[in-house]
Amino acid sequence: MLLSLILNFLLFSVCLQATVEGNIGGFAVLPCSSIDNGFKHEDITVYWRHNSSQNVYDILEGKGSVEKQDLAYKNRAETFPNEYMKGNFSLKLNKLQYSDAGKYVCYITNAHQNPSTQLFIKGMSSCRGNHGAKAIAEGIVFLILLNILQFI
Ligand SMILES: *[C@@H]1O[C@H](CO)[C@@H](O)[C@H](O)[C@H]1NC(C)=O
Ligand SMILES: *[C@@H]1O[C@H](CO)[C@@H](O)[C@H](O)[C@H]1NC(C)=O
Repeated sequence: MLLSLILNFLLFSVCLQATVEGNIGGFAVLPCSSIDNGFKHEDITVYWRHNSSQNVYDILEGKGSVEKQDLAYKNRAETFPNEYMKGNFSLKLNKLQYSDAGKYVCYITNAHQNPSTQLFIKGMSSCRGNHGAKAIAEGIVFLILLNILQFI
């Protein structure tokens, strides 16, 4: 009981960030919503970045732009222009590959929040269904309990 509580806490701490899982060759929708709404088209400027530096997609004054996009995402990234006015700047990434894993940040220039999402590609380590991490966490908790029991 106690063991499972501690274990869940450990896994929870690792997985606090929003996560999305995708399959190789499949697609993933990375969520990005602003709590502010009533945007005007010319106010909508959003930058999608991968691993903090790579340019995945830009929305400049309400228009999607791939002019400065990194070649790695060419013809694979799209957003939903009909959703912009609702403050929904979610990104769809197609034909997923292993190097797409990592952290995606959606910089909304006129809002005070920058939602980020961690993308996991199936077959790589991830929070959900990662038996490796669970086994390690279980091992650690077991060792801690063993140490406590010695002193009772
Ligand atoms: C944003 O738009 C995408 C694509 O239409 C949709 O899948 C997603 O559910 C929307 N998100 C919200 C918060 O409305
Ligand atoms: C981004 O970071 C993830 C996790 O550190 C890594 O697996 C992935 O290869 C990186 N991708 C790029 C294009 O930098």
